[in-house]
Amino acid sequence: MKTGYTILLLHGPNLNLLGTREPDVYGTRTLDDINREVTALGEELGADIKAFQSNSEGALIDCIHDNRDASGIVINPAAFTHTSVALMDAIKAVGIPAVEVHLSNIHSREEFRKKSFIAPVCIGQISGFGAFSYLLGVRAIVDYLNNRIGK
Ligand code: DQA
Repeated sequence: MKTGYTILLLHGPNLNLLGTREPDVYGTRTLDDINREVTALGEELGADIKAFQSNSEGALIDCIHDNRDASGIVINPAAFTHTSVALMDAIKAVGIPAVEVHLSNIHSREEFRKKSFIAPVCIGQISGFGAFSYLLGVRAIVDYLNNRIGK
């Protein structure tokens, strides 16, 4: 099935270190492993995956602006989840439907991780399923697009 969707897969700060970064919290898969798995699922669902990681808030915002023709966004904003009004505004500004994903369950950790500036401008949030959160995120956004466009 070819949907013709382009899904922007965004990874925030420190996620380039996945594989070695606190593996007890974030697992042992590298970012390349995750991008490969998400791309394979995208192929299955007929969606092109465009992956981008940055440790810089501005670069992530520029990437959202530069891809404002994308069908959907799957984003792990990492620490910017809890701090970035600018990233929230960028998602709102382009009006692209977005799903927020996290490897860990941000609601079962430190108090400051429970607050997401990004969640209010997303369709929903998937948190706590390790790398599988990303796969659930892609399924969720494609299902949302199929249903929304079908209406
Ligand atoms: C994270 C959770 C954030 O609180 C943290 O700052 C991260 C990763 C996750 O995927 O579990 O960098 O987004």
